[in-house]
Amino acid sequence: MAIELSKIVQQMEPSATLAMSARAKELKASGETVYNLSVGEPDFNTPEHICQAAIDAMRAGHTRYTVASGIPELKKAVVANYKKTHGLEYPFTSCVVSNGAKHAIHNSLFCTLNPGDEVIIPAPYWVSYAELVKLSGAIPVIVQTKESNNFKITPEEFKAAITPKTRMFLLCTPSNPTGNIYSGEELGQLADIVLQHNIFVLADEIYENLVYGDNKFVSFPTVREGLQDRVIVINGVSKTYAMTGWRVGWALAPENVAKKMGALQSQETSNPCSVSQYAALAAIQGDQSCVAKMVAEFAKRRDYVEERIANIKGMSCPKMGGAFYAFVNIKEYLGREYAGKMINTDTEWCLELLSQKKVATVMGSAFGAPGYFRASFATSMENIKEAFDRIEEFIA
Ligand SMILES: Cc1ncc(COP(=O)(O)O)c(C=O)c1O
Repeated sequence: MAIELSKIVQQMEPSATLAMSARAKELKASGETVYNLSVGEPDFNTPEHICQAAIDAMRAGHTRYTVASGIPELKKAVVANYKKTHGLEYPFTSCVVSNGAKHAIHNSLFCTLNPGDEVIIPAPYWVSYAELVKLSGAIPVIVQTKESNNFKITPEEFKAAITPKTRMFLLCTPSNPTGNIYSGEELGQLADIVLQHNIFVLADEIYENLVYGDNKFVSFPTVREGLQDRVIVINGVSKTYAMTGWRVGWALAPENVAKKMGALQSQETSNPCSVSQYAALAAIQGDQSCVAKMVAEFAKRRDYVEERIANIKGMSCPKMGGAFYAFVNIKEYLGREYAGKMINTDTEWCLELLSQKKVATVMGSAFGAPGYFRASFATSMENIKEAFDRIEEFIA
């Protein structure tokens, strides 16, 4: 007799971005050249001084279990860096280091949500939020934002979604998948609502350092007095330092939550990889010019992608302030035939683009926004150029 899956995992969807990347990799393995705009990771290698710190850590014998919630040196570096950058002070015991930001998010949700609690998530949202909320037994309440407002939730939309069951608001700035970034003023308006209600916030700030042009990143707990006790800040080294494979992320949380998250982690995974933690420490404490170089390259690509999209009649994309994604409206290109095949949905459109033109993107539906696709510019300028040439051929 087959083993029956648990009710909780039966309702879980696999990550669509990883699925699309896997499909692109399969095509590549079969000998095709694929122009991959589906990836969610920097295409740069981890900077050399960070790799060296990992080698040094191994040689120094940092190859054993560490404290389950992370080495104190790294926690202290995280809170010191936060204080230096954003001005707010946290005890180092407020920091829990996990196996990537995704794990930090899951642990945060698991430690704070009860079955039936509602979590407000503005759409388009990062693929994992709704699934992780469901895994914690809570209910994702998706609020559709408007492209005309750069996909940012307005105070009115936020207020309208609040019910007596609302427990948490999930905010991502700069955003995956839209690249939008909230100003301090916009965050302040949302914070006022948070403070008026008994709501907690999970602020995913993983793209904090990938910000372009005149845009300025503002960390959510800093915008109003009294927020620090109500917010869990998520961050990590994956995106800033091109360290996706090392699996180090963290939460900055009120101390009672951090303590429980550490205990949870001690039961589920134990510590994040010891060597990776020392590499992350070197990343935070070391020379930051590697970040500036990567950001400058991303900024060039962003400008190029913005221009390409602006030049395609009927496609649009809100201004990208940060992260490395364009979220492109293709509604005009649905309900049409492509090489004799009728394409009605964004999913069909992305699959057909991959099959006909070997360009991998991710369908907007995966982010709760049908009628769009997400194009990552975390790939070389040549790839981006060829991919957009092919997209133009596809829709011609
Ligand atoms: C918005 C957002 N949060 C969190 C993560 C997870 O990052 P990590 O690799 O540190 O788990 C990602 C990765 O794609 C992301 O885009």
